[in-house]
Amino acid sequence: MTIWVVYESLWGNTAAVAHAIAEGIGDEATAVSTSDAVPADASGLRALIAGAPVHGMSLPTTQSLSTAAAHKVDQDHAAPRTDEPLMRDWLRELPALAIPATAFDTRVRGPLGRGAATAIIREEAAKGCHLLAQPKGFRVDFRNAGPEHADLLKEGELAKARAWGAELAGLLS
Ligand SMILES: Cc1cc2nc3c(=O)[nH]c(=O)nc-3n(C[C@H](O)[C@H](O)[C@H](O)COP(=O)(O)O)c2cc1C
Repeated sequence: MTIWVVYESLWGNTAAVAHAIAEGIGDEATAVSTSDAVPADASGLRALIAGAPVHGMSLPTTQSLSTAAAHKVDQDHAAPRTDEPLMRDWLRELPALAIPATAFDTRVRGPLGRGAATAIIREEAAKGCHLLAQPKGFRVDFRNAGPEHADLLKEGELAKARAWGAELAGLLS
């Protein structure tokens, strides 16, 4: 039995948060992208934590990925990754799952309100999951980013993610 921290991430911020959450949970958890986590394999999981960036106050869509990809990039700014399955599609592929689950997102604006995480827990509930903990939002900061849209996690967010992971492990023990 294992725990997945599954993520969708264009510039790596959500991926970094996912890895920190998995680290906080401990050895049983693995951070895995939507392209590497096969939804059908989720039936053997002990718990599921899923995360995505907030796009248009919800989960990314094909259209929001096109918007992101249209941003001009130069050698100082990473191009967004837009070739991985959307979290919204990944969730739809999940089998019925009666396991604890929760969600997180990365966002410019806080606090957690309408966003990707709330959309994820709705999908998880539709699959039969029960809520392990309230979803969590992690903040990115545009102030240090150039005009080419390279986001940066705010200071302290990775520590917050690790601490949340430890909290989730406590709830699961
Ligand atoms: C098309 C698009 C729409 C976005 N919409 C929102 C939004 O509604 N609210 C918000 O707080 N951040 C918004 N953002 C900022 C993203 O949340 C930010 O790019 C993301 O957290 C970075 O994570 P990633 O590196 O894992 O992709 C948007 C970004 C893009 C590219």
